[in-house]
Amino acid sequence: MLKVENLYLRISNTDILRNLSIKVEKGEIVAIVGRNGAGKSSTFKSIVGIYKPAGGKIIMDDQDITGLPTHLRVRNGIGYVPEDMRIFPWLTARENIHLAAYLSRNLDRYEEIMEIILTIFPEIKQFLDREGFYLSGGEKKMLAIARSLATLPKYLLIDEALEGLAPIVVERFRDAIKMIKERGIGIVIAESNVLLATKTAERLYVLERGEIIFEGSSEQLLSNPEVMKILRGT
Ligand SMILES: Nc1ncnc2c1ncn2[C@@H]1O[C@H](COP(=O)(O)OP(=O)(O)OP(=O)(O)O)[C@@H](O)[C@H]1O
Ligand SMILES: [Mg+2]
Repeated sequence: MLKVENLYLRISNTDILRNLSIKVEKGEIVAIVGRNGAGKSSTFKSIVGIYKPAGGKIIMDDQDITGLPTHLRVRNGIGYVPEDMRIFPWLTARENIHLAAYLSRNLDRYEEIMEIILTIFPEIKQFLDREGFYLSGGEKKMLAIARSLATLPKYLLIDEALEGLAPIVVERFRDAIKMIKERGIGIVIAESNVLLATKTAERLYVLERGEIIFEGSSEQLLSNPEVMKILRGT
């Protein structure tokens, strides 16, 4: 289980996250939903160690990883797909994946990694030798998730997994996320679109101004008028 306990994040004297606790089991899909600026990306950046929280703990499989640098968190099993994807534009799709396998010290399992990736995203075969710069938004997102799989994560954080995708493509990504889950990986997605999130996740957290204000199933969330009102900003 990946557990975040009582996280506090302050940046320039502003509370960005307050007493935030979330958890995800292996093979579970959890979503963090919240309006723009609620703190979803900051939560992920704190979990991977890009931001240094003022308080709280991050525990992975009973190991306290709060003090570990980012590269060791990734090597220990936390995969991260940032909101802006960060695909290297002048490397091909294959090189982007290869580099992630190399940096996470998984090059000895490169063939197995490629097999996993191409089973989940067979579409990638068509653009393996194309440079990142020339990929579409959807292709970049696919590659970003594939690249994170090359680090052989136990837990995977996908920031805006479904945002900006055409409806038919959303379905495709949802299937891929389910295939990743079936490999026993615990997945956390961050979404500002509640409906996209409720159709994908088994359990959801609602984040509002840096605080968790709701935890429950899709049905519980959709039938909670107060929380839905906050999410709509009305
Ligand atoms: N490095 C930083 N310096 C200053 N403010 C920051 C920093 N990082 C985040 N914030 C602020 O923290 C708040 C939460 O930002 P965050 O990016 O986590 O929101 P989000 O929920 O991911 O929003 P979105 O849906 O727009 O991606 C925002 O008000 C943002 O401006
Ligand atoms: Mg964000």
